[in-house]
Amino acid sequence: MEKQKTYYITTPIYYPSSNLHIGHTYCTVMADAMARFKRLMGYDVMFLTGTDEHGQKIQKVAAERGITPQEHVDEIVAGIKELWKTMEISYDDFIRTTEPRHIKRVQALFMKLWEKGDIYKGEYEGWYCTPCEAFWTDTQAKDGLCPDCGRPVERAKESAYFFRLSKYQDALIDLFENHPDFLQPESRRNEMLSFCRQGLEDLCISRSSFDWGIPVPVEEGHVIYVWLDALSNYITALGWPDEPEKYERYWPADIHLVGKEIVRFHSIIWPAMLLSAELPLPKKVLGHGWILLEGGKMSKSRGNVVDPVKLIERYGVDALKYFLLREYTFGQDGIYTNEAMINRLNSDLANDLGNLVSRTVAMIEKYCGSVVPPAGPLEGPDEELRGVAMACGDKVAAYMDQFCYNLALEEIWVLIRRCNKYIDETAPWVLAKSAAAGDEAAKARLSAVLHNLADALRMVSVLLFPFMHSTSRKIRRQLGMGEAEPVWEDLRQFDVLGGQTVKKGEGIFPRLDLEKELAELAALQKPAVPQKEYEPFREEVEFDDFEKIDLRVGQILEAKKHPNADKLLIFQVDLGSEVRQILSGVAERFRPEECVGKKVAVVCNLKERKIRGELSKGMLLFAGEGKELAFVSADAAPGEAIR
Ligand code: MSP
Repeated sequence: MEKQKTYYITTPIYYPSSNLHIGHTYCTVMADAMARFKRLMGYDVMFLTGTDEHGQKIQKVAAERGITPQEHVDEIVAGIKELWKTMEISYDDFIRTTEPRHIKRVQALFMKLWEKGDIYKGEYEGWYCTPCEAFWTDTQAKDGLCPDCGRPVERAKESAYFFRLSKYQDALIDLFENHPDFLQPESRRNEMLSFCRQGLEDLCISRSSFDWGIPVPVEEGHVIYVWLDALSNYITALGWPDEPEKYERYWPADIHLVGKEIVRFHSIIWPAMLLSAELPLPKKVLGHGWILLEGGKMSKSRGNVVDPVKLIERYGVDALKYFLLREYTFGQDGIYTNEAMINRLNSDLANDLGNLVSRTVAMIEKYCGSVVPPAGPLEGPDEELRGVAMACGDKVAAYMDQFCYNLALEEIWVLIRRCNKYIDETAPWVLAKSAAAGDEAAKARLSAVLHNLADALRMVSVLLFPFMHSTSRKIRRQLGMGEAEPVWEDLRQFDVLGGQTVKKGEGIFPRLDLEKELAELAALQKPAVPQKEYEPFREEVEFDDFEKIDLRVGQILEAKKHPNADKLLIFQVDLGSEVRQILSGVAERFRPEECVGKKVAVVCNLKERKIRGELSKGMLLFAGEGKELAFVSADAAPGEAIR
């Protein structure tokens, strides 16, 4: 028997420093669609994802939270797993770098490189970027900034273990020059090639300034620096070296799918380590672009991350997956906007797909007693419709080979739109009228038309399965096909359906009101305002005491900064009967010129005092912390009492 072909695809292992946003889900959704696509085609697929849990940053975040790093990562990883469950991500294994199986195998890899003579002890000094956990050379960290994230780097020095990356420079240049398929897109390959040609420095692979990591097996007090730890997940999850069954089955990986900023680690450092360990190299590293917002990168600290869960709760998993795969071009950056998402859902899912499904099923219910009719003689546009349907699978497969998800989906939509056009061309409702009036030919034609439509829709359901498998299942149920999983061979023949009982379900994708959705999404996505701490109310006072306070309307005639206090403004305030100098600590809220002419509530009988050398006779009352509610109505006259 021919051995089943295997396909091993990986995502990066995510840092559990905080919850994942839509940008992270992009890579996992792509990997999931590819894994499902290959399974549909009959491959024995291994789809791996996981979390990268060691390192200084995690230790720091945990310390800030007052918990242990393990407690911190356990909590975040549970959330990540929950997210993948919600998103119906079909991974076969989830590796955590804190698992014993990973730890012992990373140490085994370290020893392998050590025994090869490719690890030595030295002193490292370089530019270190803490958030990226990366050391950079002088040329790389020019201007004192990290070339990956743009944040400031620091000079760092410590005794450490090094991997002889430089030894593999020529082998890597050879890899990029002679195996053009190894790294895509092409632009990244050129970048990496010139990076290697500039000369590779040996790589620091241990740290001793923190301890949240895998111990270096040859010396206490050092932990393995995060990239050796992280990258080796791709083989430790397969059981290398002590339980090699899966390793032998799936390694080398067919695809490492990674974001563009970590291509360097995957296409230079990882292959060099594998060469040193005398293990085969992955077949391909694919670098994808980033999902950005109109204002630039998503960042938790700027409070502008798009939460996939909120979108899923509103529109469903398949809608989000479809949008991510259809909207963006692999390898390029793309911008996320709510508007683009709603428009996509409306035009492609509600209009094109949703309408096709509901019309087809409704017509079979109404005109054929809910039973899918058998094939009939071919007429008019039948051949063309069937031709588009039969050709679709190969076209989709060709695009998927290139990781062009958007074009693969577009090809499926060519078929969906062709089906909708077929309905308009054949006008089944007209045929139904004639059939009802006793026209036998019309009756036969109506059956044939609805059969063709149902079978084309069956093909659509097969093609959609890797991308939106719940939707595909819904369509198949409505067509009376039961729960059987589709296979690629289903696309090789037409006229499969006939005799099934269709059943209308709820609409697959309802049409959305763009304006309403945009308003509601904007409200949902507003960064959470930290809960305000209100001052407790003060002790009550007698009315007579309150009466002692003389509150008046004052008009600001002049305002200037206090020469010796950054927070204070000096005002000249017209109180009707006199003009007074009053100081107030609002320099951070108002520029002096914007106060002039404004009216404000004034406590007039507060005992005068000198503040930093300037006399203040009274107090101006400002509400709130911003500019709102700061002044009293312009109609009030200076000197009027406030009661
Ligand atoms: N832990 C490392 C990877 C180690 S792999 C051996 C890491 N983790 S990460 O959580 O910071 O990033 C994981 C992936 O998410 C990266 O491939 C990165 O490109 C991707 N993305 C993070 N933000 C993204 C967008 N806004 N858009 C698309 N992908 C993005 O790096």
